[in-house]
Amino acid sequence: MADATFVHLTDLHFGEADDPHLHSDTEATMAAILAEVHRIDPKPDFVIASGDLANAGDAASYRKLAKALESLEMPIVYAIGNHDTREGFYEGMLGQGPGNNATYDHDTVIAGIHIITLDSTTPGAIGGALEPHQFDWLAARLMDHADLPKLIVVHHPPMLGDEEDEAFWRGIRIADSLQLRGMLKGHDIRGILSGHIHHDRFSVWHGIPVIVGIGQHAATDILATDRLRMVRGAGFGIGTLRSSGLTMQLVPLASDRAELNVYPLEMLRERAAANEEAAYAAQTETA
Ligand SMILES: [Fe+2]
Repeated sequence: MADATFVHLTDLHFGEADDPHLHSDTEATMAAILAEVHRIDPKPDFVIASGDLANAGDAASYRKLAKALESLEMPIVYAIGNHDTREGFYEGMLGQGPGNNATYDHDTVIAGIHIITLDSTTPGAIGGALEPHQFDWLAARLMDHADLPKLIVVHHPPMLGDEEDEAFWRGIRIADSLQLRGMLKGHDIRGILSGHIHHDRFSVWHGIPVIVGIGQHAATDILATDRLRMVRGAGFGIGTLRSSGLTMQLVPLASDRAELNVYPLEMLRERAAANEEAAYAAQTETA
C-alpha cells in the first residue's frame, strides 16, 4: 500500500457563545487548528472528526461547523458523540429533513484504507454502547474490501480492561467492548480513532492501537485522580498509515492549562448511572 496521511480531530464541541455548558471558544480553537492543518505539506488525504462535533446537538451548530471546515477541501469522516444529536447532525451537516434518529454507521474507502465508522451513542447516555443491529452491520462490513487495511472511527473508545470499570461512562460499555474485541479479531484493523475523554491516550488493545485525542473543548487533568478537573487545552493528531502500521504525531496548541471546571467523581458516577439507566430503558421501549 502507498503511505496515507490523515488529520485526527475530535470533540470539536461547536456551539453558541451563550451555551452555559460550553467552556471555551471552540470556534477560535478550530480556526487555530485549521491554520496549522493548512501548513501540513504534502496535504493529508483525509480528515477524521471522531464525535462531539456540536456541544448541544442543534442543527445550526452543524451548519456552522460545515462552513468552518469548507476550506479544508479534503474528505471528512464524521462520527457522532454523546453531545451530538442524530437529528441535528442529519439535518445540519447532511442537509436531510428533520426527524431522522437512525444510528450513523457508515464506511468508505479513501487512499486505499477502508474506514468504518460506528455510532457509539445512545440518546441521553454519556457512556458508549453498540446495538445488536450495529454488530450485524459491522460483521458484514468487515468482510468487505478484504484486501485493504481498515481503520475504525468511534467516539467512545472500547473499555481497555476485561471487567466493568468504575468510570464506565468513559468508554463503550464492557459487554459491547468484549463483543467488539471478538468481532475484530483476525481482521486487518490498523487502528481505532476515538475521543470522548478529552486527553491524549494511546493504548494497544488486543494488538489494535486505540488512539484517543485531547480534542478542542476542554482538557482532562489526568493527574487529578480524586476528581474530574478540566483545564484549558486542545490539539489534534496527524496519522500516517504505512505498510508497517500506524504512526500518530500530535500537535498541541499553546495553552496556560487554566482550570475551567472541577467535578466530584461521585456526582459524575451517579449522574452517568441515572442517565444510562433512563437512556437504555427508553431505547428498549422504542426498539
Ligand atoms: Fe467531548
